[in-house]
Amino acid sequence: MCGIIGYVGGKQAAPILLDGLRRLEYRGYDSAGVAVLDRAELGVRKKTGKIDEGIARELAADPVQGTMGIAHTRWATHGAPSDENSHPHLDASGRIAVVHNGVIENYEQMRERLLAAGHTFQSSTDTEVLAHLIGEHYEKYQDEPDRAGALTRAVSGALREVIGTYGLAVVSTEAPGVMVGARRGSPLIVGIGHDENFLTSDANAIVAHTREVVFLNDYDVVTMTAERFDVVNLGTDTATVQISKLEFDAEDSQRGEFEHFMLKEIHEQPRTVENALRGRIDQEGATARFGGLNMTPAELRGVQRIIIAASGTSWHAALIGEYLIEGLAHVPVEVEFAHEFCYRMTPVRRDTLVLVISQSGETADTLMALREAQRRGHKALAIVNVVGSTIAREADGGIYMHAGPEIGVASTKAFTATLVALTLLAIHLGRMRMLSAGRALEVLRALEALPAQIESLLGQSDAIRELALKYASADDFFFLGRGYSYPTALEGALKLKEISYIHAEGYSAAEMKHGPIALIEETTPCVFVIPQDSMYDKTMANLEMIRARKGPVIALATEGDDLIGKVADDVIFLPRSQEELYPILASVPAQLFAYHLAVARGCDVDKPRNLAKSVTVL
Ligand code: M6R
Repeated sequence: MCGIIGYVGGKQAAPILLDGLRRLEYRGYDSAGVAVLDRAELGVRKKTGKIDEGIARELAADPVQGTMGIAHTRWATHGAPSDENSHPHLDASGRIAVVHNGVIENYEQMRERLLAAGHTFQSSTDTEVLAHLIGEHYEKYQDEPDRAGALTRAVSGALREVIGTYGLAVVSTEAPGVMVGARRGSPLIVGIGHDENFLTSDANAIVAHTREVVFLNDYDVVTMTAERFDVVNLGTDTATVQISKLEFDAEDSQRGEFEHFMLKEIHEQPRTVENALRGRIDQEGATARFGGLNMTPAELRGVQRIIIAASGTSWHAALIGEYLIEGLAHVPVEVEFAHEFCYRMTPVRRDTLVLVISQSGETADTLMALREAQRRGHKALAIVNVVGSTIAREADGGIYMHAGPEIGVASTKAFTATLVALTLLAIHLGRMRMLSAGRALEVLRALEALPAQIESLLGQSDAIRELALKYASADDFFFLGRGYSYPTALEGALKLKEISYIHAEGYSAAEMKHGPIALIEETTPCVFVIPQDSMYDKTMANLEMIRARKGPVIALATEGDDLIGKVADDVIFLPRSQEELYPILASVPAQLFAYHLAVARGCDVDKPRNLAKSVTVL
């Protein structure tokens, strides 16, 4: 949600910033802008719209020169998407430029005070208020010869007045060659180069330039030149700087031969599932093993209850996790929306383990849930994709998804990788309790068969496209299932609505009859997730109820099911597996169906309207 890149070095900054913006675009695409510094000249360009139609054209028509600069791609929070509201924003003197992710909560108050002091504002954003505030503090250091120090002190002084979250980058015409960054609640990363340094909110933007990074901590302020960077923590006045290495390549976040990132990521799933499994199966012990749970077997055995908190697709994965952990380990699980967990009175017993799930590791609601659990004295584990993300660093232990960068805003491979991690965790907990070796091995073997099975499902992409074309004019869809297939249906519906803008509702196939069945008519297709599992007969009865009301039925069923072809209008067959793993298998054709339908309707699949990857505001 919003992206920042800053560069200071010996090369022309604009092409580096523009390339970074393209790599960050999935974080927000309402508008974008750059501020490039050429000695004491500040060239600012901003434009509404996606990068290529907006800022890239603007820079081609009106280039900026200089070897340092900052840039931002925006997902609007305060102020509608417009050229004026785009970042960077300038202070009152026009000497200081600021890009900012996050939300300044007390900005109205600051704005009133600054207006009374004679400031005028060009935008309705909280960031412009912050820029003016930094400028006001900077005035105090007018006579200081150390301009870099003055800028750092001005930023620090302003931030002490601010309530809210920020990841920000600041430059000033009076301190050429110096960039100041700061973070609280919104990620910021220093990229260390040779005679050049970078500042970004997302490692994807800089991995083509460097793999050496420092993940800044909350309240860190960094002062950076081409040659060095110094970090001070506003809270402690000291800072620990730990250099990490990025473990992925720039190519991993490129589209390659695929038309969209989403399609590429759907097709990566045989490999990402394999990666999520690698090294984690213990055949001899008929269990799963993890390197980073940071809990002793005794502690894990002592867990009597688990709360899983997450948002969006990760929340759907959590619901499937509930079935997995209760089914395989017999540990009661409660799933919470991360934001609800934070703000309602959730009694959490001492013997409860809290688990949060987040692909990005930066979702504000989920981060809050993690912190809330820890504040209450609980161990909190996390299942996370992005290595080095805030949740990954703050959790007491956890499991990496190993799905690689997910750029498509609609989560696909991270979802299935999460399900693999949850299945392994359920087996791990189950084997410490009453799960038999035989049953565990059945599921473990089925997990190992997944990559080849997903490959065969991907081979059905053309047939699924045909199906999507058949239903492309529908205005409403239902996705229905029972047992494990119920949360799978919720996720199928979310995929369809977020990228195709078709109204789609995920529902329990059994619950339909208590109300929503009133909506079924000949123009309301129902996607039934109906593998041959323990709920098959019951789901079939629910399917008949839809048929009796003339609702078209698309079934995701198991190969070898001879009955389904007779009752469904269309069938996509899934390879045979264990009940626990059908959510993974059924999700692949559901993702392809949503993808092809969105393409058929001319939607921008990778950048759906109003959305952004990773929501870092509450
Ligand atoms: O990064 P996270 O897993 O914490 O993200 C949570 C949701 O914002 C995310 O899953 C969102 O629902 C996606 N757009 C789903 O495709």
